[in-house]
Amino acid sequence: MVRMGPLVLRVSGAAVTLGDRQIVQDVSFHVAPLDRIGVVGPNGSGKSTLLRLAAGHLAPDRGSVWWAGGRAQVGYLPQGEPPTKSFGIEKLWQPGVPPERARRAPTAWSGGQVMRAQLALLLAEPAPVLLLDEPTNHLDVGGLEWLEAALAAYPGAVLVASHDRRFLERVATRILAVEAGRVRAYAGGYAAYQQEREREAARQRFAHEQYQAKRRQLERAIAAERQRAQQGRASRVKTGGDAEKGAKALYATKGQAAAKAAQAMERRLARLEAPAPIVPTPMAWELRAPGKGARQVMAAEGLGFRYGDGPWLFRGASFTVARGDRVGLVGPNGAGKSTLLAVLRGILPPSEGEVRLSPRRVAHLDQTAADQMRDAQSLWDTVVPPGAGARERAQARQWLGP
Ligand SMILES: Nc1ncnc2c1ncn2[C@@H]1O[C@H](COP(=O)(O)OP(=O)(O)O)[C@@H](O)[C@H]1O
Ligand SMILES: [Mg+2]
Repeated sequence: MVRMGPLVLRVSGAAVTLGDRQIVQDVSFHVAPLDRIGVVGPNGSGKSTLLRLAAGHLAPDRGSVWWAGGRAQVGYLPQGEPPTKSFGIEKLWQPGVPPERARRAPTAWSGGQVMRAQLALLLAEPAPVLLLDEPTNHLDVGGLEWLEAALAAYPGAVLVASHDRRFLERVATRILAVEAGRVRAYAGGYAAYQQEREREAARQRFAHEQYQAKRRQLERAIAAERQRAQQGRASRVKTGGDAEKGAKALYATKGQAAAKAAQAMERRLARLEAPAPIVPTPMAWELRAPGKGARQVMAAEGLGFRYGDGPWLFRGASFTVARGDRVGLVGPNGAGKSTLLAVLRGILPPSEGEVRLSPRRVAHLDQTAADQMRDAQSLWDTVVPPGAGARERAQARQWLGP
């Protein structure tokens, strides 16, 4: 594509290998001064790798990355990194973190507060290109609106990886989709990208149906020819005597021709290629219901919590959760959602009131679990406990993908 005007970033034919795996290849795209680019793709597809490449934190093993202002002129928010420096209180006024909270050590902040602080620092010093790796993950509605407004006013180009479709639709004017080791650019916002993907999926379904029909047609024809070949042989066995020699020869020839035709069609069938998947099918999950237990699995009564003698995060919470319930927990960043979950799991003792669980088993995914998993040797070791049986291992393989 020919583009007039200056560019701030260009990636040409880049490939990245991490360990012994090629993560992405043939990556080419450019960024103009005020571009708003959404980076999308399934987990593990390579969004963070792409942003690290664009930030100059990773060198491509092939191809090149070029920055108009040099590599130093890039603002970059890596994914899920805990705060490394202490934040200045004056800077945190801006994103709306109350000063009494800002004065607390960053470790006592909620995920959303840390994210807002990090974003505020980056936005305060504009660069020609700003790269944000999943900034929306911990933000509440207020935080998202604040970020949307800040990005709209940002004087440079922005590449932002996110799973939040609404946010992407409001922010992005182009989409880079990372999938199966490739990066594809789509003009237009997230809705346009989705429409194009649906069209691609429809084309793919059609190509696949045609492929299946062709296969079935060949298989039927092969079966028919094989039967004819069989009949030819059978009649050759049945017919005897000199008088029928002519007929026998004819049958044999017919049978041989049919066998040959079947073989030719079998070769065609073997060569028949399945259409390349454009839109991969989602992973299959098998969830087994836990054993039957009480109908009411959780009850809270007059529950209240505060850290030390600080302000109450919540008080007088009374509710029950029945088996099969799906409960959404909502509230602004720092309101105490993670704290409430910790109290319900029995990790934190309630300051008042009580929690009853039946059975006493709670499965839990911590907001910062990903950070802890980072230290584990591999995803496999994280998911598969030592001594796991064949069934667990097969299940894990299915969850984790190839
Ligand atoms: N340091 C590394 N060494 C080897 N493989 C890595 C490394 N970092 C990431 N990967 C792999 O690269 C792939 C893409 O990862 P990533 O860019 O983080 O994806 P995304 O951000 O889209 O979730 C994943 O399969 C991941 O396991
Ligand atoms: Mg990532």
